[in-house]
Amino acid sequence: MEKGNKIYEGKAKILYDTDNADLIIQEFKDDATAFDATKKGTIKGKGVINNEISCAIFQLLESKGIPTHFVKKLSNRDMLVKRLKIVMVEVTIRNIAAGGLSKLLGIEEGIILKTPVLEYHYKDDLLHDPLINDYHIEILKLATPQEMKKIKDYSFSVNQIMKDFFDKANLKLVDFKLEFGTHKGKMLLGDEISPDTCRLWDKITNEKLDKDRFRRDLGRIEEAYQEVLKRIKT
Ligand SMILES: Nc1ncnc2c1ncn2[C@@H]1O[C@H](COP(=O)(O)OP(=O)(O)OP(=O)(O)O)[C@@H](O)[C@H]1O
Ligand SMILES: [Mg+2]
Repeated sequence: MEKGNKIYEGKAKILYDTDNADLIIQEFKDDATAFDATKKGTIKGKGVINNEISCAIFQLLESKGIPTHFVKKLSNRDMLVKRLKIVMVEVTIRNIAAGGLSKLLGIEEGIILKTPVLEYHYKDDLLHDPLINDYHIEILKLATPQEMKKIKDYSFSVNQIMKDFFDKANLKLVDFKLEFGTHKGKMLLGDEISPDTCRLWDKITNEKLDKDRFRRDLGRIEEAYQEVLKRIKT
C-alpha cells in the first residue's frame, strides 16, 4: 500500500491518502508536544515505538471484540487504518488520580479512584479542549446519544482489557485517552494508544513510564518508551 497525498499533519502523526478511498496511512513522528503545544520537542525513536505499541494494543482489543480502525502495520512508522469521520470528543478514563483530575478536583496524584472516572473533552484547540458532558455533546451535535452510549461502553471495556494487559507487563494503567469515529456507519476506536496517550507507572516503584517524563522534564524519556515496549513484548 503506497502513500498518496498528505491529508493532515498533526502534532504526533501525519495522515496520508491511499489508492483505496476507505483506507489511510498514519505515520508516527518523533515530535512531542505538551501543555496545549506550548512545550515542543522530539523523543528519538518515539514514532517507531508508538506505532508498534499501538498496533499490538489494537490487535488485542480486536481479539476481545472491540472494533477499531486498525488494518495492519505497514512499516516501522506506518499503520494502515480505516478512514474515520472523527467524533470531536476525546474520552479519558482514569483509574488513579493524576494530571488534569488532580488539578481540577485537588485529588492528590496517586490516589486510587473508587470507580473508574470517565471524562469527555471537546477536541477544539482554540478552546483548549475543554471538559464537556453529554449535554454539551448533544447541543454541539458532536455525536448522538446512541453513539455516545456505544463510545462509553467500548471505553470501559477497553479499560478492563488494557488494565489486565498492562498489569501482566508490571505496569499500572493510571489513565488514558481514546478517540472514536465512524466508518460506513459503524463506530470504531481510532487514533493511537501509546505512552503518549496513556499514563503508565511501574507496578512496584510507581516510576512514570509515559509522556509525563517529557511534560515534567524527568529525563530518560526515550528509555521509558523503550521499557514499555520491552515489557509488553515479554
Ligand atoms: N482512522 C482515522 N481516520 C481519520 N482521522 C483519524 C483517524 N485516526 C486518527 N485520526 C485523526 O488524525 C489526527 C492524528 O494526528 P495527531 O495525533 O498528530 O493529531 P493532533 O496533533 O493530536 O491533533 P488533533 O488536535 O487534530 O487531534 C487526529 O486529528 C485524529 O483525530
Ligand atoms: Mg493526537
